[in-house]
Amino acid sequence: MVLVSVLGLLGRFQGSRVSRLPNCRRLYGSSPVGARDEVHNGRACFTTPIFYVNAAPHIGHLYSALLADALCRYRRLWVPGAAATRFSTGTDEHGLKIQQAAAAARLAPAELCDRVSAQFQQLFRAAGVASTDFIRTTEPRHRLAVEHFWEVLKTRGLLHKGLYEGWYCASDECFLPEAKVTLQQGTSGDAHPVSLESGHPVSWTQEENYIFRLSQFREPLQRWLRDDPQAITPEPFHRTVLQWLDEELPDLSVSRRSSQLHWGIPVPGDDSQTVYVWLDALVNYLTVLGYPDAEFRSWWPTTSHVIGKDILKFHAIYWPALLLGAGLSPPRRIYVHSHWTVSGQKMSKSLGNVVDPSSCLDRYTVDGFRYFLLRQGVPNWDCDYYDEKVVKLLDSELADALGGLLNRCTAKRLNPAGTYPAFCTACFPSKPGLGAPSGRVQAEDYALVKAVSSLPKQVAHHYDNFQIYKALEAVSICVRQTNGFVQRHAPWKLNWESPVDAPWLGTVLHVALECLRIFGTLLQPVTPTLADKLLSRLAVSATERGLRELCFLPRFFGQPCPFEGRQLGPDTGLLFPRLDQSRTWLVKASRT
Ligand code: ME8
Ligand code: MG
Repeated sequence: MVLVSVLGLLGRFQGSRVSRLPNCRRLYGSSPVGARDEVHNGRACFTTPIFYVNAAPHIGHLYSALLADALCRYRRLWVPGAAATRFSTGTDEHGLKIQQAAAAARLAPAELCDRVSAQFQQLFRAAGVASTDFIRTTEPRHRLAVEHFWEVLKTRGLLHKGLYEGWYCASDECFLPEAKVTLQQGTSGDAHPVSLESGHPVSWTQEENYIFRLSQFREPLQRWLRDDPQAITPEPFHRTVLQWLDEELPDLSVSRRSSQLHWGIPVPGDDSQTVYVWLDALVNYLTVLGYPDAEFRSWWPTTSHVIGKDILKFHAIYWPALLLGAGLSPPRRIYVHSHWTVSGQKMSKSLGNVVDPSSCLDRYTVDGFRYFLLRQGVPNWDCDYYDEKVVKLLDSELADALGGLLNRCTAKRLNPAGTYPAFCTACFPSKPGLGAPSGRVQAEDYALVKAVSSLPKQVAHHYDNFQIYKALEAVSICVRQTNGFVQRHAPWKLNWESPVDAPWLGTVLHVALECLRIFGTLLQPVTPTLADKLLSRLAVSATERGLRELCFLPRFFGQPCPFEGRQLGPDTGLLFPRLDQSRTWLVKASRT
């Protein structure tokens, strides 16, 4: 609704009422976080999956963490205050998979967990993932939460002991129906049963377990998804889950015999059984909110999960059913993304094609690699990774287009006073044809103002739909348009000494700097260090970087501009140095 009214306002740009817009702040409407947040004092909580510690982190794990980080940072630009937005990530350390990985590495499970969990923590710290909590499922606080959650399900009559038999896949930590298992020919000619979906080996399991009455929740889950069409975003995944719910929903085994699985949390009151690793893992989302202490209640309904499509069923069916069973609401949103492949293949240790995220951060810089993953990663489809793609993208969008634009508009030669020049309303009237004695302003210039004015709203829309790459694409298009504006008016051909040129020259630079200020503000969630450098160069103070008050080119709308005449911040060097140095001379040549 807000979007519609804002676009309505934008549509008046060419109309006579433009200069009477009461306040350009209104252009962006209110926060896109939704009315439901207001009920919880603007609180929100974001999570990533907690990652298995059987192997070192790769770029897929980093991608999930960066998506959640960007959502979280974006929200903090709307709702400032560290206390309002929580963000948790962590490691999933129990289960057969870890037990087997530790045995294979001849390590005690706890030692493997310590080592690999530390690698995840290090990577996320290095990548600027600003989480407020890192949970390990081997922590005592988590054991308490799982025990309590179990007791609640038990008391509500949702757990019973029974014989469970079926195929179990240790790599995926899940039971599979017969139809999802196939025979695969091994190298020695013998056939092994494997999971149809993942290709991982499965084994036949028949044991007495605790069973959760999942089948009771089919209708409540369908109702939840029908009532809240945005519960699972993007939409194709929402549809997939509804299709799954059309099929039969069998009960779920939620424990394993301790003789099989000792590395886990014992079932309360029955040491012969260990809690199923997925139940254990999912409860982490409550543990980080202080569950079972009552304070968790003011946070839980505001929690949104970022996950990969591989674990959709666990998050969109098992988890909401378990929550409903425990008398709690399903998560606020489940944001789903697809996978990174390498040269068209799934990343895997056995193929030896795992891309090490730490070396990427070193090679492409933290902000460079963050930008690449979030600009190229499309939630709806798998994306292929290769190094040349990174170099090409960063050089063209960050070094040349954005860095070049800042450099041009702040360079001593063009801006000798080193200030944010004044905007001249007579040179750039709010309506084409009004005044404009020099007649230098063109239709494309109005198109630029319109595009950049609507950019914050577009970005909000894309964040809300979990299409961060589209938000970055929209910024990138406007950067290109701004470069076109500067190129068109060639301010380097204008003369500060000339009374005719000077106001127009100041206006061209003012407009370009205003555009840069909007780009810098909107890029903060993705490239925090680069955006800080840009905004500091433009002398935008820490209190002027939020989205609530963001206001583009106020002088054009008849409002005062607090930046006009301000001394620029210090020049701290290139915004983003080119990675491919072989082409540097070409760029320099084209700028002169
Ligand atoms: O499943 N591309 O942990 P996990 C993009 N412990 N993202 C990828 C990816 C790829 N190629 N590979 C992995 C588990 N991911 C459980 C989760 S949550 C309560 C328990 C990301 O180590 C993606 O987010 O196998 C995926 O869902 C997650 O890592 C799986 O990590
Ligand atoms: Mg996995």
